[in-house]
Amino acid sequence: MTKKLNGKVAVITGGSSGIGRETALLFAEEGAKVVVWDIDEKGGEDTVSAIRKKAGEARFFKIDVRFSAEVEKAAKEVAQLYGKVDILVNSAGVHQYRAGSVVETPEEEYDKVMDTNVKGIFLTSKYLIPLMSDGGSIVNLASAWGTIVSNKVPIYCTSKAAVIQLTKAMALDHAVDKIRVNCVCPGTCKTAMVEKIINLNYKDFGFDSPDSMWESRRSNHPMGRLGTPTDIAKVILFLVSDDASWMTGSAIIVDGGYTLGKSFVGKR
Ligand SMILES: NC(=O)c1ccc[n+]([C@@H]2O[C@H](COP(=O)([O-])OP(=O)(O)OC[C@H]3O[C@@H](n4cnc5c(N)ncnc54)[C@H](O)[C@@H]3O)[C@@H](O)[C@H]2O)c1
Repeated sequence: MTKKLNGKVAVITGGSSGIGRETALLFAEEGAKVVVWDIDEKGGEDTVSAIRKKAGEARFFKIDVRFSAEVEKAAKEVAQLYGKVDILVNSAGVHQYRAGSVVETPEEEYDKVMDTNVKGIFLTSKYLIPLMSDGGSIVNLASAWGTIVSNKVPIYCTSKAAVIQLTKAMALDHAVDKIRVNCVCPGTCKTAMVEKIINLNYKDFGFDSPDSMWESRRSNHPMGRLGTPTDIAKVILFLVSDDASWMTGSAIIVDGGYTLGKSFVGKR
């Protein structure tokens, strides 16, 4: 069977963990040459060796997407290696780990969340779009919380709403270059990011254990389960593939029904 991404060069930020890692593995299975950009060296090397074990091609660059000098340098290295980029997936992201209202949120937390989740996409796109001379496809990780909000994470929700608008604005500007730009808005998926925010904050959210907060998250998803990184990676694969060749500027909700509204038929 023909692989969907044969010959494509894909840069995946946040590919050391969670949704980014699963996307990297899936893309490699579909024939892409995968470049992982992440601050987590150990996780990045693990992703690369998992891909190489299955005879795929992958490389890891340790970079922090918040800093333009690092992104620019890594983009030059990718250009030297492959001469082009076809796909960019922006999955690097952080939560508002110190959960709280705007009054309770330190300014540094605001800067970290906005710089990683929004400026990071601005910088990777700024330096990689010029390498997409034959057209390309970008997928940004927004969130269900870019469309509705939740309590005590105002900066995270704001950053993800910004990702949706940045996606649409980039889609409009670069349609003429045959570069499609879409984003995915996941509901809660069981990853290191969510584990960290639950472990740090479950008491402040009124739960007596991390497990009871996980259960509350699960029961808010009408389909009765949390998402997995694979649920999201499969949609990202669809968006970057030729199957979605007429899609640009879309914000695709993948959330097991979480944003549909509250159900009053009883708990599951
Ligand atoms: N897991 C969910 O429930 C969920 C829901 C909605 C949206 N998202 C979004 O999906 C994306 C991936 O989340 P995940 O759950 O896989 O998280 P994760 O923590 O498992 O992975 C995030 C990766 O980003 C990397 N990263 C963080 N800051 C970075 C920086 N400054 N530079 C480079 N790399 C950096 C981390 O090292 C990590 O490998 C994020 O943008 C997140 O906001 C996740």
